[in-house]
Amino acid sequence: MKKHLLSIDDVTADDIAALFETAAEMHDVQRREVKKLPALRGRTVINLFFEDSTRTRSSFEIAGKWLSADVINLSAKGSSTSKGESLRDTVLTVTAMGIDGLVMRHSASGAAHQVAQWLDIPVINAGDGTHEHPTQALLDAYTLVRHLGSLEGKHVAIIGDLTHSRVFRSNIKSLAKLGARVTVVAPPTLMPSGVGPWSAEAGFATSYDLDGVLAGDNGPVDAVMMLRVQKERMSGGYFPTAREYTVGYGLTRGRLAMLQPGTPILHPGPMNRGLEISPDAADAADSLILDQVSAGVAVRMAVLYHLLAGEEAVQ
Ligand code: NCD
Repeated sequence: MKKHLLSIDDVTADDIAALFETAAEMHDVQRREVKKLPALRGRTVINLFFEDSTRTRSSFEIAGKWLSADVINLSAKGSSTSKGESLRDTVLTVTAMGIDGLVMRHSASGAAHQVAQWLDIPVINAGDGTHEHPTQALLDAYTLVRHLGSLEGKHVAIIGDLTHSRVFRSNIKSLAKLGARVTVVAPPTLMPSGVGPWSAEAGFATSYDLDGVLAGDNGPVDAVMMLRVQKERMSGGYFPTAREYTVGYGLTRGRLAMLQPGTPILHPGPMNRGLEISPDAADAADSLILDQVSAGVAVRMAVLYHLLAGEEAVQ
């Protein structure tokens, strides 16, 4: 594994397999009554979050704690960032205290890459703007592999606000590395500009027609991944009304019936229930949304372990 996890580009298919193997062991730990492993005893990890988060931050915190690391959470609100301190000064200040790893989320695409150049400890990108969210993509893939077995040749439909989604940008890379075929679906206004040459190079298909994709126009769909409409990143009107979005691109009860029985439904959360996903779909027997959350802890334990425990420990 490389020193940092900034992008899915930093991991090979072999790295992913090794991470999943460790994650499966961590998953077993998660079911124990006593959930502590000594692997990162004496190491300190800072979670530096400049953007809101529920599951990513708490799952990194739990992951670090279950590996016996000392974990410190710092958010921009309430830190000296709100007094005007620069990103460079903030990260140099916290690392000067002697920490061993930095997990960070920032609204600027590329922020984690920039910070990794300033520090000589591992940096894990927990989401940078609309760029990447590698641990989310790894936990999504891990959840799918546990459910479907090998992803080789499997067809995954990723549906929703692609323009603003770092989850989609990491997922197309990880799913490709695992041999899956991906079709992404969005209204024209939420399809990233320049997607034509990009999709040709990265090997994914695009569509504006959700019903067609679910009906199998592009081959039977083995899994659907819904993405949140990210209103906080929208500066203008991307669709006329919420109702119209749902009619065109929501996983409604009607569309749920179009899926083959047993087709897993994923969503990275947080969900806009009733907008991109109906309660029927979110709570369906085939919904893996809470499995994703629980896999998130195991996968982040694996990532922290591989990056911080040292080569000897991992062999
Ligand atoms: C995602 C994120 O923050 O990029 N959520 C997450 O990490 N679970 C997706 C989103 O906010 O919609």
